[in-house]
Amino acid sequence: MRNIKEIKNLQNKKILLRLDLNVPLVKNKISDTTRIDKIIPTLNFLIKRKSKIIILSHIGRPKGKIVKELSLSPISKYLKKKLNIDVKLIKKNITEIESKKFFDNYNEKILILENIRFYPEEEKNDINFAKHLSCLGDIFVNDAFSCSHRAHASMHKISKFIHSYSGLQLDLEINALNKITSEIIRPITCIIGGSKISSKINIIKNLITKFDNIIIVGAMANNLIKFTGNNVGKSLIEKNCNIIVDEIFSLSKKAKCKIIYPKDVVVAKDLDGTPKEKLLKDILPDEMILDIGTQTLENIKNIIDNSKTILWNGPAGYFENPNFANGSIEIAKKINENNKSNKIFSVAGGGDTISLLKSISAVKNFNFVSTAGGAFLEYLEGKELPGITALN
Ligand code: 3PG
Repeated sequence: MRNIKEIKNLQNKKILLRLDLNVPLVKNKISDTTRIDKIIPTLNFLIKRKSKIIILSHIGRPKGKIVKELSLSPISKYLKKKLNIDVKLIKKNITEIESKKFFDNYNEKILILENIRFYPEEEKNDINFAKHLSCLGDIFVNDAFSCSHRAHASMHKISKFIHSYSGLQLDLEINALNKITSEIIRPITCIIGGSKISSKINIIKNLITKFDNIIIVGAMANNLIKFTGNNVGKSLIEKNCNIIVDEIFSLSKKAKCKIIYPKDVVVAKDLDGTPKEKLLKDILPDEMILDIGTQTLENIKNIIDNSKTILWNGPAGYFENPNFANGSIEIAKKINENNKSNKIFSVAGGGDTISLLKSISAVKNFNFVSTAGGAFLEYLEGKELPGITALN
């Protein structure tokens, strides 16, 4: 894998820079800027070398359609302010941009193409779309480690058609994760939560052989709660997952890996509803699970006390509402406490997890915090990430 630093002359080169600007937006405002702040060194590096930067990124999951709320406009404004230079968001349909000469019409040093997932070809890893994208620049740079598990056109196929390099942040993340995975000490506990169930439920199966405990919380846990014969009311749940959950339980027995999931929870009638703590058997059909309960939290703290390494991706509940943030906050505090007294080595990953940790100033007491969520877990699985393979 060649890094952008290896290129001697970048002056006037049009750099197609794939970033992960998938930051949380609340009412069109960025609620956590970490992912953008982390790639500022890459942008400054290219600006200093007088390159012309064309940013490619997605935000959210618009599924190949234009979704106004998922425009990169707030990100473009933030970058302009942060870098104190002109940044232009190009709204023109990418497939109608004919060649890289198009960009000579602009004086701005940074152009951002609108959300790449507005195009259905992106997630299909469409070869013609990738080829078209490649024609818009001289050099491709992947600085989106957190998207590298996606075989998408702007991450994967594009590298077939253009000289491709890794960015500064991507190298930092890979080097840090390599060091962590090679020096890992048992017992290892992995905490997996969040709401991106479809991407993560399959991964759990493959992590079982590597860890001593897997704690499943957040919406992910609802599938296990349902599978074990409980009512989950109107909670978020992934359909057709019984076979995977069954495999998770039987594999865990063979591999002597403990699977821990909530035994009590906090529910409400909706996301803004009044919180009520309940045992699983008492959940009503019109209630949704939004956090873990006290008993579950105590059990998790105990497991943390008996572990040497903690890997965490995904909050334990709907932490955006403080009524349902207790489980996630208490887990973070416990990890911080044990980390400070050198009892554990701790790594966290994922956009929501970072957001949560930042909101309670808990980032500094983790040994490493990765911007990646799904990619972080797949990397831990030992899987090849398409975005990285493409650069090799
Ligand atoms: C992430 O948030 O992990 C990355 O931006 C990838 O997003 P995705 O899970 O929607 O592909």
